[in-house]
Amino acid sequence: MPCAQINRMVPVAVIGSGYVGLVAAACLAELGHEVVCVDVDRVRVELLQSGGVPIFEEGLDALLARHRGQRLRFTCNLAEAVRHAQVIFIAVGTPQSPTGEADLSQVESAVISICPALDSYKILVEKSTVPVLSSQWITRTLRLNGALEKNFDVVSNPEFLREGSAITDFLYPDRIVVGADTERSRQLLRELYQPLIDGSYYRRADCVDGPADLSGGVYYIETSTNSAELIKQASNAFLALKVSFINAVSNLCERVNTDVEEVARGIGADRRIGSRFLRAGIGYGGSCFPKDIRAFGKVAEAVGYNFDLLKCIEQINEDQQTGFLKKLRTALWSLKDKHIAILGLAFKHGTDDIRESPAITIVRKILAEGSRVSIFDPAAMQNCRTMLPEGVQIQYARDEYDAVKGAHALVILTEWPQFSNLDLVRLHLLMSYPIVIDGRNLYSPAKMSAAGFYYYSVGRPSAEPLPEKYAFALEHNQSQHFLDEKMAISCE
Ligand code: UGA
Repeated sequence: MPCAQINRMVPVAVIGSGYVGLVAAACLAELGHEVVCVDVDRVRVELLQSGGVPIFEEGLDALLARHRGQRLRFTCNLAEAVRHAQVIFIAVGTPQSPTGEADLSQVESAVISICPALDSYKILVEKSTVPVLSSQWITRTLRLNGALEKNFDVVSNPEFLREGSAITDFLYPDRIVVGADTERSRQLLRELYQPLIDGSYYRRADCVDGPADLSGGVYYIETSTNSAELIKQASNAFLALKVSFINAVSNLCERVNTDVEEVARGIGADRRIGSRFLRAGIGYGGSCFPKDIRAFGKVAEAVGYNFDLLKCIEQINEDQQTGFLKKLRTALWSLKDKHIAILGLAFKHGTDDIRESPAITIVRKILAEGSRVSIFDPAAMQNCRTMLPEGVQIQYARDEYDAVKGAHALVILTEWPQFSNLDLVRLHLLMSYPIVIDGRNLYSPAKMSAAGFYYYSVGRPSAEPLPEKYAFALEHNQSQHFLDEKMAISCE
């Protein structure tokens, strides 16, 4: 076990209170540091100061409540936050520009605003996802805006947080990567992460519970800044590659009538490959993979390398969504004037985030073909209302069963655990046609067939109802209530 060391409190500023900034601020306070989180959005800062939490992220509200007003403060005053800090995390947005590159204007403007307050040595840490060579641009911007060379170092400390498990990803990471080009900055970053490096955090009685025993310390990797930036972009591209690979294999499985789940299990058992990120579905989405893969391709292009593999990953992802829609057409023949129940809008479960969600793309295509939809998602409906306003063609449902009432087909688009435990008898009785198209493989085809459904999923043989077994299910006592419900709907 590494020898115990007194952990030093490091004053930290985090610029940006989005997913990455808020999680980093809360977790750094949890490690014992004095953190000031800055944002230009006054309404957001006031909400955070008064105890509100602007995003849905498991465990974040509890961690903010634990440290708010003590080791964690929120402000709009950037100069004050920078003066207080020794380490400044830049966690502002890096959206996609119209041409596919990462738009780094928010990073640039944060760096320029920091300059006047750089009155002593401080470290600027890139936490936002930025392309390789960004640290050199930040250094140049600092120089051009009058920052003295002796007063700063720029470090890359990429985040590998997944929405929905960001807090435990931060506190129980597979690895921490720090790209720094001077010993002074390396030393300060080590002090910042010391409780995780020596494992002392995990021995604290009040530590946040996590998925692994890391009391021996986390894997801490020091590299050059360029390498750290590249590690971030290449990691996301590789994960997206795994998803696209298994989705491509799922198309083969459908053509040779076999089951992609079995195939993925067999592939993933090879430790060199690993079983994670081999779940076939409707393709990846979210605020990271789609944007980061495009930006990575642009970086390669800019330095004169033709990274065609990245284009294939994107193409397979797009085709997966088109292919999924074909299944719906196969099941329903025409989509005109059909009523489709949609379960899931978020790009994955555990989040209310709908950015680049494949579910939204699919819903839009269904609407364009003339169907009306009734939608339910346990977290993401509020975020969707502007993009998909309620009206004749779109209704938001109270729950899963409200959504499927009278529907010609149920389409499952997000893998929320509660969607995998639906009462199939009730579902069958509530729907007009017993058709389920499952984009996340939440059910077994045999079970759905026995429950009387026409069932289509991804990379697995489709199933037809087994009438005798369904009749047996209907005889089940509880069914009467749902039969009454169905009668009521058909009389409406
Ligand atoms: C991703 C990475 O996993 C994080 O390591 C990284 O820090 C983050 O991007 C980022 O760059 O900020 P996230 O976007 O939260 O995290 O979501 P993931 O859990 O990676 O899922 C991405 C997409 O892939 C989702 O649409 C998900 O449904 C899909 N996916 C994932 C699959 O279709 N199959 C799988 O087996 C895994």
